Amino acid sequence: MKILVVGSGGREHAITWRLAQDAEKHELWCAPGNAGMAEIAKCLPLKADDVAGLTAWCKENAPDLVVVGPEAPLCAGLVDSLESAGIKAFGPVAAGARMEGSKRFAKEIMQAAGVPTGKAEVFTDAAEAKAALPAYGLPVVIKADGLAAGKGVIVAETVEQAEAAIDDMLVGNKFGSAGAEVLIEEFLHGEECSILALVDGENAVLLPSSQDHKRIFDGDKGPNTGGMGAYSPAPVVTGHMLPEIKEKIILPVVRELKKRGITYRGVLYAGLMVTPEGGKMALSGSNVNVVEFNARFGDPETEAVLPRLDGDFAAMLMNVATGCLKESDVVVKPEAAATVIISSGGYPGDYEKGKVISGLAEAAKIQGATVFHCGTKSVDGAVVTDGGRVLSVTGIGGTLRDAVDTAYRAVAAISFEKAFYRRDIAHRAFERN
Ligand code: AMP
Ligand code: GLY
Repeated sequence: MKILVVGSGGREHAITWRLAQDAEKHELWCAPGNAGMAEIAKCLPLKADDVAGLTAWCKENAPDLVVVGPEAPLCAGLVDSLESAGIKAFGPVAAGARMEGSKRFAKEIMQAAGVPTGKAEVFTDAAEAKAALPAYGLPVVIKADGLAAGKGVIVAETVEQAEAAIDDMLVGNKFGSAGAEVLIEEFLHGEECSILALVDGENAVLLPSSQDHKRIFDGDKGPNTGGMGAYSPAPVVTGHMLPEIKEKIILPVVRELKKRGITYRGVLYAGLMVTPEGGKMALSGSNVNVVEFNARFGDPETEAVLPRLDGDFAAMLMNVATGCLKESDVVVKPEAAATVIISSGGYPGDYEKGKVISGLAEAAKIQGATVFHCGTKSVDGAVVTDGGRVLSVTGIGGTLRDAVDTAYRAVAAISFEKAFYRRDIAHRAFERN
């Protein structure tokens, strides 16, 4: 098949890499890609959110399938535009991508579909929002409705923090139109996990569970990031939970969207909070609650989940895009996987770019390790850093411990000035034993 992958991060490198593992040799293209993707695909000088440019390229070059990685082009209607041009695409249309693009919309769908989630209300008036706070107790979660680059969620420990967050969004306009509506949401206790569900408009097949590490420092300390590591499977998700997640969370959402005329195809990513010991949250009444939905593969979860998939990946994606996904399309390897992100020193604050990366070839020789590029580019034959998250290093192994050890062996082979990584990836899984 001729396949275009849209995006330039670790997630898109992992998608492209996994397509390159298929028995059939595909013709692979990326837009815009990165230095790692350039080794296995042809890169186009088109930005991921250039809907018109990407549609024009596809009309001329007729790929069999376009796989859209990030949320911005999905929310901007890239899949709608490609479908109008007769091009098959993996990813939801813009109306479906609102499950990620509007927290208010996602909450409305969950409430209408009876999906367990924290109780929440929407406000546009700061005084009314503040008056509602006492009913939620503390901590309480304040969320901007729209896409705010991961910064629009404040977990407030005090009433003062909650009121300040409400004022920032509704009075100070801190997030622009994304913060013109705010949600006040019940705080959910427990352990988070990620479930990536493939959805073909009607049916869903769940990919193996995973867990992300959002904070910058070991022990889950410091500011939030785009994700500093991941592993799969996540033992917090026990076997009996998966069918329930499909029946009580994923499928009701897909049906509710369908009822509203939205055919959802692509990944529906459920960020879930699992509350331990059968404890049910007082307001929502369930012990597995949805924290958020995303309309795409997770990053870095994808770098840990895709290396665990066997079988024909392109066919799997195509069956999603054309509405004929089967349970047998998803074949999971028994091995575990762990991914360690190497970031630029200073991230998620200010950081420098353009540092020469060494040791990539040595890392790639380590059995069971794969290095995905997140923020890199080639300059005069050298690979240099070009973002906050730079590399996503995955190890697979017979046990999670083996997978983690392999990933860290590969990380140790790589160096660049001010490189930083967490040393405790998968700690929650190990703490259970
Ligand atoms: P979101 O952008 O909705 O994923 O929120 C970012 C992060 O904030 C989540 O990954 C959680 O760690 C935290 N968070 C969001 N909503 C809640 C909630 N209702 N209860 C507890 N933590 C939450
Ligand atoms: N790993 C979190 C996300 O992809 O949104």
